[in-house]
Amino acid sequence: MKINIKKLEDTSVTSEDLFLLIKDVFSDREKEGIHVSYNDYTIEDIQSHIKDAIVIVAIDEDSSKLVGTGSVRLYKEKGRIKECGYGELLAVSSSVQGLGIGSQIIKAEKIAAEELGLRCIKSDTSVKAKSSVMFHKKNGYIIDGFQSSGLTNTYSYTYRLPIKPSFKDNRVFCYIRFILSYIIIRLSKDAEGNYYPLGKILRMLRVIS
Ligand SMILES: CC(C)(COP(=O)(O)OP(=O)(O)OC[C@H]1O[C@@H](n2cnc3c(N)ncnc32)[C@H](O)[C@@H]1OP(=O)(O)O)[C@@H](O)C(=O)NCCC(=O)NCCS
Repeated sequence: MKINIKKLEDTSVTSEDLFLLIKDVFSDREKEGIHVSYNDYTIEDIQSHIKDAIVIVAIDEDSSKLVGTGSVRLYKEKGRIKECGYGELLAVSSSVQGLGIGSQIIKAEKIAAEELGLRCIKSDTSVKAKSSVMFHKKNGYIIDGFQSSGLTNTYSYTYRLPIKPSFKDNRVFCYIRFILSYIIIRLSKDAEGNYYPLGKILRMLRVIS
């Protein structure tokens, strides 16, 4: 099987193709009992996520079928792209998982992010999605935090993938940030994002969101 990794704009892949792939891949997470917000998305949500983003697609050359995707949302501040993007919509079709396609998508995202001058790519995954956690670590993402966003029914790790050297992405700082946020979030919120009494106070004080 020959897989082509390309930027979305260099292909004829549509937002409907991305929508169908994402629904298909993430429905498997629901079977594992992990609710993923992408399962609630409409095509319009996908379109808004890929509007200002680097979008990479993996296409099976033989069938011309879309088998994988990943995006990095770009944020602007005063007309300039912010130094960290956000990795989203990472999905590889279940029939071809474990063959290195996801890693190639991350590599292509990194190259495109570097070309745009980004310092890092941030992301998150459910702590229960063990294969995805392993995947992120293997591909250079460093765990830097812990959260309960309310968008899913599990706690999540947050990560950052350094693109340019910076003390802000140093492993020791990331580890300290992770430990602190783990303690604060476990005392403040349940896995579904509901606040405990301490969480309500910390939210009022704007220590957590
Ligand atoms: C996570 C995902 C994108 C990885 O893509 P992939 O093409 O399957 O990954 P690769 O083949 O490049 O795997 C690289 C590493 O990821 C980890 N990994 C991937 N699939 C795994 C699995 N089923 N179980 C355990 N580890 C796994 C392994 O560490 C693997 O390294 P190894 O091959 O040396 O063991 C893909 O499996 C997927 O779409 N999963 C469902 C959706 C999802 O979880 N998306 C992540 C965003 S929340």
